[in-house]
Amino acid sequence: MLYKICKSSDITENSMRAFPVDKTDVLVVRHKGVLFACNNSCPHRGASLSKGEIKGDNIICYMHGYEFDIFTGKLVNMKSWKRDSRWMEQTAAWRESGDLTMYSVVEKDNEVYVEIQSDNLKTAA
Ligand code: FES
Repeated sequence: MLYKICKSSDITENSMRAFPVDKTDVLVVRHKGVLFACNNSCPHRGASLSKGEIKGDNIICYMHGYEFDIFTGKLVNMKSWKRDSRWMEQTAAWRESGDLTMYSVVEKDNEVYVEIQSDNLKTAA
């Protein structure tokens, strides 16, 4: 299903913003002139990715610093847990994370639309 999310001007270059769609939050990112959309829930422990930052081609989660490639949604860096000595004690299972859940995004007539299948409308893991 195609959802109208926002106006094109709401997402400026190198910015990201979350929008509620049904029962989930969709994060829309504009980077290098291209729009991307994904579930706003970090696949590691469910933190809001919109509170993070864009660094290079990655979205960095504010919670534990895991980095996801904006273009592919793939987890590309999970070294940050080593920054804090408490996190070094966490198990390998705790450190595991999947990739971002990506959605198709379309920009038309100065509006941004995201296509989400109903089985992908989920809340944080
Ligand atoms: S919740 Fe995002 S890195 Fe842990």
